[in-house]
Amino acid sequence: MRKIFIAGNWKMNNTLSETKTFIEEFKQSVKSIDNIEIGIAPSFVNLAYAKALCQDSNIKVIAQNMYFEDNGAYTGEISPLMLKDINIDYVIIGHSERRQYFGETEETVNKRIRKAFEHNIKVILCIGEKLQEREQGITNIVLEKQLKGDLKELDNNKVAEIVIAYEPVWAIGTGKSAKTEDAQNACNFIRKTLKDMFGEEIAQKVRIQYGGSVKAENSKEYMSQTDIDGALVGGASLKADSFSKLIKAV
Ligand code: 13P
Repeated sequence: MRKIFIAGNWKMNNTLSETKTFIEEFKQSVKSIDNIEIGIAPSFVNLAYAKALCQDSNIKVIAQNMYFEDNGAYTGEISPLMLKDINIDYVIIGHSERRQYFGETEETVNKRIRKAFEHNIKVILCIGEKLQEREQGITNIVLEKQLKGDLKELDNNKVAEIVIAYEPVWAIGTGKSAKTEDAQNACNFIRKTLKDMFGEEIAQKVRIQYGGSVKAENSKEYMSQTDIDGALVGGASLKADSFSKLIKAV
């Protein structure tokens, strides 16, 4: 049985004081929920603080990215050792905004995942097609290419622990969420591809989140799909009130 995992990706939002206000309120609001894994991904500068505030709570703290070297002359980058040292629970790798604006490729995503695995940091890997690709009818081709490139030659046992976020790029921040059936079909295709790559047992273990304009009004419907095991939420996760409503609606 795969446990539902709902995570909030704050992107470049929420200052230190907003992070504090959020966590104080959110912690109270979700404290009795134990059937859903819950996480937030604040900005790097607020991660250690968020982690400290979330101690003794059921809220996981997630980094939004990570570099693929341990240390060195890489100005502006964040090392896995830094994340380990503050006991970060997960790291998001390969978000479409990283691929689109910051030049990340399947090769650099693969290197990051390898590095995270080396340090036993759990990974949320984001994949998804662009609008043009959906319109051309090549969604599955794109998803397969990303999975094969991103997860190339990885250790099977570690892949079982990975979380994959299916985020169609056209549904991110647009208010245009994917039809439930389309999201389920894409997540089912992802699971089938994982089966081809790593075998049935691993494919059944991997949790697949849907991301793209998830809100309180549609979270339950997505979560009730066979192959959707959670959500990666942007806009609706920025305020404690709206994020807890979205989780409680499931
Ligand atoms: P929105 O929920 O704002 O569409 O963002 C989704 C996302 O990109 C989460 O990583």
